[in-house]
Amino acid sequence: MSSPAAPRDQFLRLLAEALAAGAWHKLTLGKPRGTDPTLRHIFLRPVQLDGAPHCQFLWRHDTRDITKNHPPAAALREIAALLGPVFHSAHLFTPERTIQLEFNKKGEPRLTAGKAAAPAATAGPTHDLGKVRLLPPDSQRWLQALGVTTAAGIPREGMADKHRQIHRFVELLSHLVADTGLPTDRPLEIADMGCGKGYLTFAAADYFNLVAGRPANVLGIESRAELAASIQQIAGETGRTCLRFVAGTIQAAVLDRLDVLIALHACDTATDDALFRGIQSGARLIVVAPCCQKELRRQLRPAPVLVPSLRQGIFAERHAEFATDALRALLLEWAGYDTKVFEFIASGHTAKNLMLSAVKRPATDATVRREDSARAVRELAAFYGITSQALARHLSFPLAASHVPALPA
Ligand SMILES: C[S@@+](CC[C@H](N)C(=O)[O-])C[C@H]1O[C@@H](n2cnc3c(N)ncnc32)[C@H](O)[C@@H]1O
Repeated sequence: MSSPAAPRDQFLRLLAEALAAGAWHKLTLGKPRGTDPTLRHIFLRPVQLDGAPHCQFLWRHDTRDITKNHPPAAALREIAALLGPVFHSAHLFTPERTIQLEFNKKGEPRLTAGKAAAPAATAGPTHDLGKVRLLPPDSQRWLQALGVTTAAGIPREGMADKHRQIHRFVELLSHLVADTGLPTDRPLEIADMGCGKGYLTFAAADYFNLVAGRPANVLGIESRAELAASIQQIAGETGRTCLRFVAGTIQAAVLDRLDVLIALHACDTATDDALFRGIQSGARLIVVAPCCQKELRRQLRPAPVLVPSLRQGIFAERHAEFATDALRALLLEWAGYDTKVFEFIASGHTAKNLMLSAVKRPATDATVRREDSARAVRELAAFYGITSQALARHLSFPLAASHVPALPA
């Protein structure tokens, strides 16, 4: 970067990423140059308040300490206001390295990085900076264009959760890809169905092409034509030639083969449509985060013992979510995939936090396993009185029949 302010902006961006991922131990602001002659340092550390991450500021004056806690976005704003005008040095300690911003006598900032000051085992919160680096610095261009971050790389007001979700998604994707035998002799073909504003589509494209060194063509499919056009323009402006956004439905999208299918928060049965398109296109890895599981709510006939509890709306909702996603996972098992269901991000950030991943098993897999899966699907459907469900219909799996259907072509 060429402007004199760039190292400061870069430091703030690294700090924003570390805060978003919980990948830091402490931050020290020193060399006070402000108007308060008693102020010496501010020592910051991560703390949890009411289950949410916060930054604790300890303002050290000559004869007193003052402690204040702020959520990450507010903390970043405060640090940005202090760096330069009030403090001329900042040391960020992450599990992997120490990042240092120093202003010289002329007030010119300089950014350096060194080895971690403490072993990773002493890290407080959950992640390390290696995970933060799963998006390259150049991702800042689309993060900014999509309104996630400011020019300094700081999450905009109200976008901290989205920023964290994007990083978490890439981190999970990297783990899932490591467990999947994706082809290495050609570019990967990836589709993100119901991609919305394309945050995760851009993130997946950058992760594969710029971080993992796996050339990949990434297709975003979005039914809102104006949205698809606007993010296609951003893809062009940010030089993402491997990224293409098309307007249309998941069901009608023209696909050749697929290696990875992504569909996060595609509403209700759009998730089933995406799962089917993934299976149909031979995707080796399928990653979905279902939401609004409405289809089965009216069909479910819960065991009599559950009926009084299910008068509570929230229980009825979770019950439907469980039945729907459990059935989807079993259908994927039957269709030849190994599945995992896990939390995407802590439920404090969004209620839509369940992720279902499916990795295609080798074709040589035993028939008996498919028969077991088919039985499991039918038994779950029978337990809940489910006779029709979108993914089962797509797969021509007769939920009520007693025979084992043939696998999809
Ligand atoms: C809740 S948003 C999620 C966006 C994105 N996947 C994410 O997690 O940030 C769901 C998006 O899917 C789109 N969508 C819903 N059903 C669709 C369908 N059948 N075909 C294509 N897009 C669909 C909606 O227009 C919306 O933009």
